[in-house]
Amino acid sequence: MNDFKIVSKPELIYGVNTSLTAGTVLKKLGCSKIICVYDQGVKSAGLVDKIVKVIEGEGIEVVHFDGVVADPPDTVVDEAGEIGRKEKVNGIVAIGGGSAMDTVKGINILLSNPGSITQYKAGTVYNLSRTPMVMIPTTSGTGSETTTMGVITSSKEHRKTIIHGEGCTANVAILDPALTLGLPPYPTAATGMDVLAHAAESLTIKNNWSEYSAMFAENAIAMVVKYLPIAVADGSNMEARENMMLAATFAGTAFTDASVHMGHGIGHSLGAKFHIPHGVACAIGLPSVMKFVATEESEKVKRVGKAMGLTFKDDATPEEIGQLVADEMFALNTTVGIPTLQALDIGRDSFSDVADLVIQDTTYYNYPVKASKDDIVGALEQAYDRGEN
Ligand SMILES: [Fe+2]
Repeated sequence: MNDFKIVSKPELIYGVNTSLTAGTVLKKLGCSKIICVYDQGVKSAGLVDKIVKVIEGEGIEVVHFDGVVADPPDTVVDEAGEIGRKEKVNGIVAIGGGSAMDTVKGINILLSNPGSITQYKAGTVYNLSRTPMVMIPTTSGTGSETTTMGVITSSKEHRKTIIHGEGCTANVAILDPALTLGLPPYPTAATGMDVLAHAAESLTIKNNWSEYSAMFAENAIAMVVKYLPIAVADGSNMEARENMMLAATFAGTAFTDASVHMGHGIGHSLGAKFHIPHGVACAIGLPSVMKFVATEESEKVKRVGKAMGLTFKDDATPEEIGQLVADEMFALNTTVGIPTLQALDIGRDSFSDVADLVIQDTTYYNYPVKASKDDIVGALEQAYDRGEN
């Protein structure tokens, strides 16, 4: 069995309506003035006001930043960080999905360090960030509440960069499935398939693979397969929402230690070039990635398949294992309404450029099977129409 070391995780508070404990949580952390970070959509869905009310109810002053945008650009993080510095806040709260949570990770670094977030890419040594940070996810997807990294879009280089370390680690994550009840089917599907990608990629990683991460990944996969179609078809189904919230956190725990690979490499690249939602982009790439990885890591891909409920012949070849898992994932994409590249009007003539971006992606060094440009173009070809036409 592989040796492993597990990094520390935030305190997790899970349960329906636990977001209403945010005030007491912040009080316990010693906060008297916080910056609350969210986007207009979360605000208009009515999720911000009731949480702010319980925070103010504890006598804590709230500074608002409602300018979160998808794939948070460095410029927005710098703007929010500057507000936090000027207001001298001593607490940070994210209410939202991955973009809000990645934004507050950037703010956290900026509150303890000078200059712009562009100076603190992964690998940079920065001052320890001690400002208490609380994550309240409103989607079941990113797992960002449990991870030690954030993704910031470089406005100069037009690609995604990673921030990492203590400044990116939340003190407390409040996991309230009730906050996801109003999420429409398409973002539910997109964020849910991101969970599957986190789990399946961390379960098939080569470096940093461990039984600890595998346990979380396998549970997350089984939960997504069972509950995501229900959550997409009936958003008000609390059992499905509860399980998806937990699955997102399990998968986040799995990939914090094991990391993700080529599905996210393709996802980041399609997202950067065509601005399609992160979860959709990863879901499009994942099936053919599993097929590709099975050529050398068939036993791990088989574990993904088993977690999905598949059975395999004892003498199944790596190609058969990869194909079965890919077909099952393509079918799940169809069930939950993830479009094909063809349906998104992303033509084959773009695949060479996308593959170049994949090779430059920060996940590339994690790939369990080294992928050439031709391999990546091949994976995109398979994803183009899922072989449907
Ligand atoms: Fe992801």
